[in-house]
Amino acid sequence: MKKAIITFLILTLAIFAGNNRIQADYETELTIAVGEVGAEYDTVVAAAEQYMAENPEIYIEVIDSPAESGERLSYFLTHFERESPEVDIYQIDVIWPGILEEHLVDLYDYGAEEHLEGHFDFIIDNNTTPEGELIAMPWFIDAGMLYYRVDLLEKYELDVPETWSELEEKARIIMEGERENNPDFEGFVWQGAPYEGLTTNVLEWFTSNDGGNFVSKDREVTVLNDNNLYMLEKVIGWMGDITPLAVTGFIEEDSRAVWHEGNAAFMRNWPYAYGMTEESEAIEDFGVTRIPAGPEGKSSSALGGWHLGVSQYSENPEEAAEFAFFLASAEIQKMRAIQASLPPTIEELYGDEEILAENPLFEEFLHIFETAVPRPSAQTAPYYEAVSEAIFSGIHLALTGERDALTALENLEIELEEILQ
Ligand code: GLC
Repeated sequence: MKKAIITFLILTLAIFAGNNRIQADYETELTIAVGEVGAEYDTVVAAAEQYMAENPEIYIEVIDSPAESGERLSYFLTHFERESPEVDIYQIDVIWPGILEEHLVDLYDYGAEEHLEGHFDFIIDNNTTPEGELIAMPWFIDAGMLYYRVDLLEKYELDVPETWSELEEKARIIMEGERENNPDFEGFVWQGAPYEGLTTNVLEWFTSNDGGNFVSKDREVTVLNDNNLYMLEKVIGWMGDITPLAVTGFIEEDSRAVWHEGNAAFMRNWPYAYGMTEESEAIEDFGVTRIPAGPEGKSSSALGGWHLGVSQYSENPEEAAEFAFFLASAEIQKMRAIQASLPPTIEELYGDEEILAENPLFEEFLHIFETAVPRPSAQTAPYYEAVSEAIFSGIHLALTGERDALTALENLEIELEEILQ
């Protein structure tokens, strides 16, 4: 909380400092609030510099926002609730359209139509309100993936795991071997802090064992079943074994830190970690593959990703929309795919040789991006935040041993039913 307040103060100061400097020198100043996970922030600064060079009448202030999705939403809501014009463009999580639609302009009013060609329909649909307004430009896709150490699989003569049980077994073999020289070595790291990222991990455990996606399209709660019980018990069994107990406090960058130091055999994370891992000096060789399958199901990745919305309270919505179109263009998506391994929302770019040379995984993963499973944000709007909080808090209690798996699922089923009544 303290961190959130400090971040808020720093950002507010940054915005005021920007305003004073800019108003004198430029016709229009735009402020964009984006994420800072991996290399994403630097790519926006580079794109803004390019845009300013091409459009000298515009000045763009790029500000960062909290790394954790829920904290970022709270921070953005403090702006929206005051109808603040301080931020013009926001980086919007794929699950937020149902929560934020009233605060964002309809980009069709600013000419979005001609910029949408070639973008995946499923992302356009995700960002379109039931009334047909486009409230965010498609920007990048995320899907959960399994990172593995090629060098260590070879050392222990193991194949890439395809099921959760195989992952468990292989993680244990590698971990036991590596711990002889490295007591910090872990088998499998992922995101287990009580926050949005845990909801995506749980979604993958449950859907990969055919246990449903928490809430069906027709708003039926589907949490309490044997397939989910099997998976949750399995995961509880990893705690303090192949997975460190500290994972219950991990968000994306925490799990990547352990992995990056060469201290984990496997990691569940999003594509941004690919480019960052290539820079690790501790990792000789690594690969990525699909999320493992449960005994009753098949591999399933959670759909993530971030898009660009223009605030209703912006004083320059037209210029803001133009800059958002530029950021979402094939040129900038390509630059971000190469420099930050962020998967584009433009299908054609998956055949781009320069992108594939840098990120060979994109070719293999195109199908996974297209079939990734969305969280139930559309069918539970505008209550998705409460739905997700019930999921991650309830499951977190099971991970820390405060609730057994069955009780956790029973309580969650009831809580979700109450939220959706
Ligand atoms: C990634 C995903 C986003 C998700 C978040 C959870 O940033 O792109 O959709 O909500 O992780 O931590």
